Amino acid sequence: MAKLLHWLMAALLLIQLLLGAFALIWPLSPTKLQLFIWHKSLGLLLLVLVLIRLAWRWLNPVPRLPSSVPPWQRLASQLSHLTLYVCLIALPITGWVINSASNVPLKVFWLFRLPNITEPDKALEQLMKWVHGGFVMLFLLVLVVHIAAALHHHFVRHDEVLTRMLPGRSR
Ligand code: HEM
Ligand code: HEM
Repeated sequence: MAKLLHWLMAALLLIQLLLGAFALIWPLSPTKLQLFIWHKSLGLLLLVLVLIRLAWRWLNPVPRLPSSVPPWQRLASQLSHLTLYVCLIALPITGWVINSASNVPLKVFWLFRLPNITEPDKALEQLMKWVHGGFVMLFLLVLVVHIAAALHHHFVRHDEVLTRMLPGRSR
């Protein structure tokens, strides 16, 4: 379950980042609005997925790292995973605040609407656009380190950290 959620979310997040970037730079048109509806809907789906993932993680302890991993790297791993989870919660919430502060209806996959969580507020909208963008940067930065660390475990240290995360393989 933890592996399934990890790889499902990784794939959806790749699409989500591209949707966000394209929605932002697209010229004002019906396509731009459609891109934003997809971005917001997928962002909210990712929020639900991360909450399920954290609940699963709370109920099922994470496997220990190999004993060859030094203490500072264990700490780095915990801090980077924590930062990724913080970003995965902060991104959809700040997105929802931008949407609410700008008083745009929040349509979820054209199926239903969600209520606004703040009053219309131009200054808050502007601030939250910066904060959303800041979390995007932080997320990308930590993600690069995360992927580099996974590849380092596999190709340099030749341990099981990456392989045990792959589908269908046990520790
Ligand atoms: C994991 C979830 C999310 C990720 C990874 C994400 C990522 C991004 C990215 C990469 C951009 C373009 C770059 C930037 O503005 O800095 C963006 C912009 C934006 N996102 Fe998200 N987003 C997420 C969730 C959401 C949600 C749930 C909403 C709304 C309900 C939302 C609303 C927006 C808006 C309105 C913008 C345009 C901001 C602007 O005009 O500066 N996002 N997002
Ligand atoms: C958007 C993409 C990704 C996100 C958000 C993400 C996030 C995370 C998080 C939060 C964890 C910690 C799991 C936990 O302890 O609860 C984790 C574990 C892991 N991730 Fe990713 N990940 C992504 C992509 C990748 C990719 C592309 C790789 C491989 C190249 C990878 C390899 C791993 C490995 C090997 C672990 C297990 C680490 C351990 O056993 O301590 N991840 N990932």
